[in-house]
Amino acid sequence: MAAFQPLVFSGIQPTGNLHLGNYLGAIQKFVALQETRDCIFCVVDLHALTAQLVQDDLARQTREIAAAYLAAGIDPKRHIVFNQSAVSGHAELAWVFNCVARIGWMERMTQFKDKAGKDRERASLGLLAYPSLMAADILLYRATHVPVGDDQKQHLELTRDIATKFNHDFSARIAEKGLGHPIQMGEETVQGYFPLAEPMIEGPATRVMSLKDGSKKMSKSDPSDLSRINLTDDADTIAKKIRKAKTDPDALPSETAGLAGRPEADNLVGIYAALVGRSRADVLADFGGRPFSEFKPALADLAVDKLAPIATEMRRILDDPAEIDRTLREGAERAGAIAHRTMHDVKSIVGLLNG
Ligand code: TYM
Repeated sequence: MAAFQPLVFSGIQPTGNLHLGNYLGAIQKFVALQETRDCIFCVVDLHALTAQLVQDDLARQTREIAAAYLAAGIDPKRHIVFNQSAVSGHAELAWVFNCVARIGWMERMTQFKDKAGKDRERASLGLLAYPSLMAADILLYRATHVPVGDDQKQHLELTRDIATKFNHDFSARIAEKGLGHPIQMGEETVQGYFPLAEPMIEGPATRVMSLKDGSKKMSKSDPSDLSRINLTDDADTIAKKIRKAKTDPDALPSETAGLAGRPEADNLVGIYAALVGRSRADVLADFGGRPFSEFKPALADLAVDKLAPIATEMRRILDDPAEIDRTLREGAERAGAIAHRTMHDVKSIVGLLNG
């Protein structure tokens, strides 16, 4: 049996404004990957229900993420761009995975612990099962590579655990039906229906930190807007936020070892490196010994150069919501065709009546 076809899958939740962390940790990588791989990029609107159930503008926010994908340069003709709820297989496969995964696996997720807070009994079942739906997103297409930021690492490990348990528990039926593909597990090659998708968490900006506190992740939910650069910020706002970003009084070091214990400096250098497509070491070779009063304006210029055209293009795309909906519908049809085949196989593997 042939190996799994390489396929990239990733998704972004339509909750709150997209920020520089989402761009550098995810979208910028998607744009690069589409040159060499087949890709599926999803707006995970079902996941957004776990953050807040009743939302007036979920459809608008879904279009906004789609617009960001397109404005950044993702080509929806060559690749698939769609919203999760338009393909019913995501919820169906998630249900099967809810029966494969164990409650303990879900309860150990740090994101669940953070989001559920102290009173876990009152958290929604959806929030607990969130990673199972995420595994379904990826495995519905039997994707092999998943570009994400560092905060999704644990969820991707869980996705591999779910695939491994499914492959193991149903191994006889997978073999009997001839649906297995070879999977390398350590020294051994085993047959499985689902690949063990590889996280792609690389480069200088896998975890972009708050501009106000180098120990906190840049996030949509931070109450301070100065903590993040939004993808829709105008040039003046971007420059102001970088000017006001927290730093220490020392000049930049000449080598990366000098960034240890200087989280804010490390973060700004990492952002510069990711925006310009070079390493931290390269950036420090240029800026080592120079004060933040010189580095910050250079960073602001670079950020404006990269982000302002995306914001302008996003606004243009958002002016025509019907066209976005058309693109998402086309994407959902193509995704749906793959999903349908997977669900047919999965139903047959688990023994559901497959009429
Ligand atoms: P979400 O919507 O929170 O974030 C979207 C992407 O942005 C990355 N990211 C960051 N990267 C670097 N620095 C940061 N400060 C930062 N903040 C966010 C995230 O790692 C992510 O790659 N559960 C996912 C969405 C999802 C998904 C999937 C992803 C659902 N199904 C299947 C991949 C595959 C999430 O909430 O991402």
